[in-house]
Formats: sequence, structure tokens, C-alpha cells
Amino acid sequence: MNDILLIRHAGQLLTLRGPEGPRRGAALGDIGLVADGAVLVHDGIIQAAGPAEEVERLAADLRDVREIDAAGRVVMPGFVDSHTHLVYSRPRLLDYEMRLRGADYHEIAAAGGGILSSVNALRAAAPEELEAQARRTGYHFAQHGTTAVEAKSGYALDETGEMKTLVVMAAIDGQPLDIVPTYLGAHVVPPEYARNPGAYVDWMCAEMMPRIRRQRLAAFADVYCDRGAFTLDQSRRYLECARDLGFELKVHAEQFTHTGAALLAVELNATSADHLEQADASDAAALSRSSTMATLLPGSVFHLGLDRYAPARLLIDQGAAVALATDFNPGTSPTCSMPMVLSLACTQMQMSPAEAVSAATINGAHAVRRADLTGSLERGKLADMIVLEAEDYRELSYYFGVNLVAMTIKRGVVIYQQGEVFNPAIKGSAADAR
Ligand code: NIG
Ligand code: FE
Repeated sequence: MNDILLIRHAGQLLTLRGPEGPRRGAALGDIGLVADGAVLVHDGIIQAAGPAEEVERLAADLRDVREIDAAGRVVMPGFVDSHTHLVYSRPRLLDYEMRLRGADYHEIAAAGGGILSSVNALRAAAPEELEAQARRTGYHFAQHGTTAVEAKSGYALDETGEMKTLVVMAAIDGQPLDIVPTYLGAHVVPPEYARNPGAYVDWMCAEMMPRIRRQRLAAFADVYCDRGAFTLDQSRRYLECARDLGFELKVHAEQFTHTGAALLAVELNATSADHLEQADASDAAALSRSSTMATLLPGSVFHLGLDRYAPARLLIDQGAAVALATDFNPGTSPTCSMPMVLSLACTQMQMSPAEAVSAATINGAHAVRRADLTGSLERGKLADMIVLEAEDYRELSYYFGVNLVAMTIKRGVVIYQQGEVFNPAIKGSAADAR
């Protein structure tokens, strides 16, 4: 292959170029903005990204250059969505309606909805059906500008179903999005072990996790430490086993109740502690002194109709490394839209538009340990980027519920291009119809 791509006329090129390591504190707002930029790509890898003059000079002697004219619009890295429950069987519409009538997340679970209803559905689903669904979801992510997603298992909990889930993730990896797989066996206690959760943890440690490692089906292990899920002690045991087997760690921490899971994540040097709606000042202090990322998921707070968002300002100002992700899942956050998450981060958590961009790109890449490959537009990284239907990057979070992604490029290949609205001059007006 010898494919050369030049992206020209980026009115604002957000390179997100910066120091090694995730952005913290004031640096989170540094998006490496170049007015009038260009990007040169060779076989899917970025050769140069910066001022148009410099980059175009490099391209001047090359032949057969494919060109994309950004026409003055924003060009930036694709989103790295570092927390999703990508593979599931069906939307939970009964839960949704129950909640709208006033039931809370735990009441719905007790009434037969919740995570265990997704477990029943996933166990019954054919692998082909799950794969087709996951592929479609991947396309929706791509339409919203995401080029890499972390994906968790955890809606089967038994061996057959968890393996089925992880195999689906492997099958769709790179088609077209990169998938970073996570084993979330410790999502809730499955019905078979309802009377003996400890034995379920034993089984995951002794059987499931070694098998998954051997087959290289997951890079991360994650636990949901909360009321109705796993206790702090069970979470510690699960995470220590996972770490000893070579998994990188993630923790669903401080979502509904304050359990101490954020401090546990820091103590075990987890890659990220996710959610953190109930996190307090001592959690923020510990995270800021650690290399554990604080991954915030405002979509779940919004969809559940709650009002307590994670303390993003406190975390950022103390120096924690903050990432943003969708938490795409059928129970608490049914959205593939990182732009919507950015809007929520700004209006509900007082992040600046620039901070939200960093948290959703380069810091997301750090939260899946792929920052060497993606998350910024720098020489040697994958040409994973988006063109926005906007001249100013702040429009991305300002327009909420609107998809400004005009084009998504994955490894130098256009995988999504915004469609047209047809305007066939339909005769008559509303007044005629009355
Ligand atoms: O991240 N809280 C635990 N896990 C998911 C919800 C999963 C579900 O309700 O299906 C979350 O919010
Ligand atoms: Fe989650």
C-alpha cells in the first residue's frame, strides 16, 4: 500500500499534542489549536499535523495525493470512548418507563429489571444476533465521531455467555472501530450464586480470568463495587487476582453509594476509577496524587434523571487526570454520542469546552492505555480524526443533542460522511393543509 492523504484547510486544527502522560490541571485545557492547519497521512499513519504551510510543503513533492478539503472547518482527533458496555441484547424499555413513573434504579432491579434482565436476554441471544447488534452500534459510534471504544462484558456472567460476548468483541475489532476489551465478570452476582457471592468471586479468580488471559480475550478487568453489586472486600479480592494474572484494572467506583472503591483503585494502581458521582475531597486528593485516571460518565446521571454529577471541577483543579466517556449501556446510559457527553460535561459539571475535548480524546486514550496510538494528531499515531460541521470547536459542546460530526476518518480511511437533507420543494404549506 502506498496511500497518501492530505487534509487541507482546517480552520482550526486541534492537535492535542502535548507532554507524555494524561493532561492534568490547567494543561487539560490545552488542545494544541492551530489556526489554518493540515494533516499529512501515509498508509493510515500521521506523517505531520500542524500549520498548513509546513505540512503542505512536505506534501508538495509527493505524487498521487488524495486530498480532503476541510473548507475552514474544525479537524480534531476521533473520540476515544473509554467506558462502554457495547455488547448487549435489548434496550431496557420497561425499566425506562418504570423509572419515569418514579421507581429508582435499585427498585427496578428488585422488580426483575436491571442488569439481571439484560443477563437473561444475553444468555438467550444467538452469537450472530449479538454480533450484528454490536456492529450496528459501532456504526452509530462512528457517526458520532468515535474511532476507538473500550467494551465491557458483564451481561452474561456465566462462562458461555461471557466468552460469547468477548468473542463478538474480537470479531468486530477494527471493523471499523478499534475495540479494547474488558472482562466485567464482577458486574453483579449471577442468580446461580445469589446465596454465595464469595464462591462466584472464587470461580472468576480460579477459572474465568485465567481462561480469558490465556485466550487473550480481554486486556482489562473491571468490577462494579456498589450496593446491590460487589462489596469492597470482594472487589479487592477480584482485582488482586486480576492484577496477578496480568490484567490492567478498572473500577466502577462511587456511583450510587460511597464505598471506598476510588481509594481501592488508587491503592491497586488501577488504570481508571469510573463514575465517581459520590466521590469526596479525599478521593479527589488521592486520585490527584496517583496515576489512576478519573473517568466521568455524565450520560448515566442525565439518563437516570439524577442531579448529582461527579465533582469534575474539584478533580481537575486538584490535579486528577480526568477522562470523559459515554458509559453506553441499556440500563443507565443509552447513548453513543460523545458530543452529547461533552455538552453535559460543560453545562452540568462546569468543564470548559477545551477541557472536555482533551478529556474525550487524549485522556480517553490514556484511560485505555492506547495513547501511543491514538487520541492526538501527532507524527507516528493512527490517522483517526474527525471533521466537524463547525468553524469553532466550542460549537461541539454548545449545540447539544446535535451531531456536528461531518466526517469520521479511521486509519486514514473515511468511514462516515454526513448525509444530505433532501429539499425537493414540496408543494403547499402548513397553512394550505389546515
Ligand atoms: O456503568 N453501574 C453499573 N453498570 C452500568 C449500568 C449497567 C446496567 O444498568 O445495565 C453503569 O452505569
Ligand atoms: Fe459502566
